[in-house]
Amino acid sequence: MQWPEEILIREVGPRDGLQNEARLIPAEQKIVFIEKLVQAGLKAVEITSFVHPRAVPQLADAEEVAAGVRRFLEGVRGSGARQVVISALVGNRRGVERALAAGVEQVVMVISASEEHSRANMNMTIAQSLEQLREIAALAAGGGLALRGAVAVAFGCPYRGKVPPEQVLRIVEAMLQAGIGEITLADTAGLANPRQVYELVAGLYRRYPGTAFALHLHDTRGLALANIVTGIQAGVKIVESSTGGLGGCPFIPGATGNVATGEVVYLLHEMGIKTGVDPEKLQECVRWLEEVLGRKLVFPVPV
Ligand code: COA
Ligand code: ZN
Repeated sequence: MQWPEEILIREVGPRDGLQNEARLIPAEQKIVFIEKLVQAGLKAVEITSFVHPRAVPQLADAEEVAAGVRRFLEGVRGSGARQVVISALVGNRRGVERALAAGVEQVVMVISASEEHSRANMNMTIAQSLEQLREIAALAAGGGLALRGAVAVAFGCPYRGKVPPEQVLRIVEAMLQAGIGEITLADTAGLANPRQVYELVAGLYRRYPGTAFALHLHDTRGLALANIVTGIQAGVKIVESSTGGLGGCPFIPGATGNVATGEVVYLLHEMGIKTGVDPEKLQECVRWLEEVLGRKLVFPVPV
């Protein structure tokens, strides 16, 4: 097989990572975190969620964070940082309205592949969520807001167990009909195995060769890096990860963090695949974050 020359890493630490932190982090520190990520060379960053502050209190400051990041990016206009794609998570119409008002350029709409997780996460059935998707797509298109899709618990659900690929397909098809061109397959609880990832991704690329499929993996059982490798073998060119391995879903008991960005960078660079990320600057960012959070985070040992 031909390995890709480059993989886009989308950093989700400020969103998926911080949403699981119990202690509230001030917005200014979140903005500094995002600045450090951009300075380390990350070209795509999910900065926050426009969800109900009661559901995720840590991200209640989404508007403030989005405004701070915009100011920073405007300040570095003309430099490489301008090319960074900033996105935010949404789950319903209200979220998109807030994202539009906050001047965010891209949002990602999440829909669960299992009814049980859909209820726990968004208090909606899958059908209700798909209905929201149609409204959201129209609203985003009207406001010039780019829209991505994400399928949560695409590889297994802690409430339900196995998630048949047909369940994922149903959501992917609805997203394509809504005009979405990039879809993240999320292993929200970290239950995927490398063969399963290969088969689902390869099957989707056979069916929808014009769509970009991204992987979002949690490292609950230490299989995330292996899952990334088989995902790339099946055609994935976008991988989501979290600096220091922060993260977890507050609506999934026992789910651990995202695969750590430093480990993904190390894996890909060792395989001769470019990411644009500077490992030393990323390590500085991890050290800074360790100070802020007061605990050790994941970073590969420097040689
Ligand atoms: N942001 C802020 N407020 C919101 C909102 C949003 N995105 N969506 C709904 N609300 C408000 C409504 O305006 C309404 O306010 P009111 O009571 O003052 O009229 C209230 O919340 C209830 O609205 P409803 O549609 O009934 O929401 P709900 O209570 O059923 O909750 C969600 C649904 C989607 C808002 C909530 O479950 C949620 O935010 N989940 C996000 C979970 C998440 O982020 N998971 C991790 C990422 S995968
Ligand atoms: Zn996640």
